[in-house]
Amino acid sequence: MQQQLIFTNQVGETLDQLVTDINPSSVFVLVDPNTAQFVLPVLQADSKVIAAETSSVIQIPAGDIHKDLDTLRTIWQHLSDHQASRSALLINIGGGVITDMGGFAASTFKRGIHTINIPTSLLGAVDAAVGGKTAINFNGIKNQIGTFAPADAVIISSIFFPTLTIQETLSGYGEMIKHALLSSEQTLNDLLNYSIKNPPSDPDRLLALVKESVSVKENIVAQDPTEQNLRRSLNLGHTVGHAFEALALKRHSPIPHGYAVVWGIIVECILSNMLEGFNSEILYRLATYAKDEYGIFDITCDDYPDLLQFMSQDKKNILPDLINFTLLRAPGDIVLDVTPSHDNITAALDIYRDIMGI
Ligand SMILES: NC(=O)c1ccc[n+]([C@@H]2O[C@H](COP(=O)([O-])OP(=O)(O)OC[C@H]3O[C@@H](n4cnc5c(N)ncnc54)[C@H](O)[C@@H]3O)[C@@H](O)[C@H]2O)c1
Ligand SMILES: [Zn+2]
Repeated sequence: MQQQLIFTNQVGETLDQLVTDINPSSVFVLVDPNTAQFVLPVLQADSKVIAAETSSVIQIPAGDIHKDLDTLRTIWQHLSDHQASRSALLINIGGGVITDMGGFAASTFKRGIHTINIPTSLLGAVDAAVGGKTAINFNGIKNQIGTFAPADAVIISSIFFPTLTIQETLSGYGEMIKHALLSSEQTLNDLLNYSIKNPPSDPDRLLALVKESVSVKENIVAQDPTEQNLRRSLNLGHTVGHAFEALALKRHSPIPHGYAVVWGIIVECILSNMLEGFNSEILYRLATYAKDEYGIFDITCDDYPDLLQFMSQDKKNILPDLINFTLLRAPGDIVLDVTPSHDNITAALDIYRDIMGI
């Protein structure tokens, strides 16, 4: 099933129209404490559906640590206690944790009830809420249990982003930079010329950038919905990025996911430059943007064995000892399943330290 994506800053009336069309037997709304505080009041003022006494609000704790079986059970329990039928509707209002977990709960309850996603974080809007994947973490493994279950509709707006922390905002922007690199140099330039830290007051420009970013992901997902080949390109920046996140955890100083992706993108563009002829001028522009907006992830050559070890454990690797990368010949010109030697990877890490001035 294809999910309907609606880009609008008139969220309330759009939601009301969608709910009229779906005509559900009952309506449930999933939030966390932050979206209950910052987003729900806006929607209660703007949407008849959300304001209605009959909409039942389910509040769960915030954060990926709660994207687990216990929280899932509370959602199922609430739906069951309130006699949700097969034609009930769950409206997920929040970041990726809410849309992943709400999506999973809805896709399994009575074999699937209606869902509308209203992503309220930048990462949720450009990534988590739009690819049709749902999940919970299980047994210490992220997203181990999940479904491919597109929502009936996703309403994407930029009006909720101003209350995000700067870290959350930059983190989402990191995934947008990744999408731009998978698309074209023009899309990349649009992002690098926009200051997400000090955005203009007009939310429509940001909504246009988000729309472009989502279309990149949608295009890739449409060609490969179940991740047989091209969808793996969405892992650009993540092979090194996940290793940086793991190293940061080992140092007891975690870094936001999107920051790790941006720094990982720099290393993977260096590898792309070494092995696939990726343009060095674009690489330097990216590195300057990363340094200015995200700062530097500090590594020394003593960290290389750990980093290689983390990369070797990456679940995307097909053969043992071979570390699998998505690289680029140019923005939009994707090369899947490159397995550089360990020497090439350490050379790229050397160049990363050099470019970043470490
Ligand atoms: N399904 C997918 O394809 C996919 C893709 C990428 C990420 N994910 C998942 O998404 C999750 C990360 O997403 P995320 O960064 O949005 O996490 P999140 O849902 O934890 O949101 C980040 C923080 O921002 C708060 N927040 C959300 N909207 C807000 C607003 N408008 N104002 C103020 N605070 C707000 C949340 O309460 C939370 O504290 C992870 O669980 C990840 O696994 C899923
Ligand atoms: Zn990511």
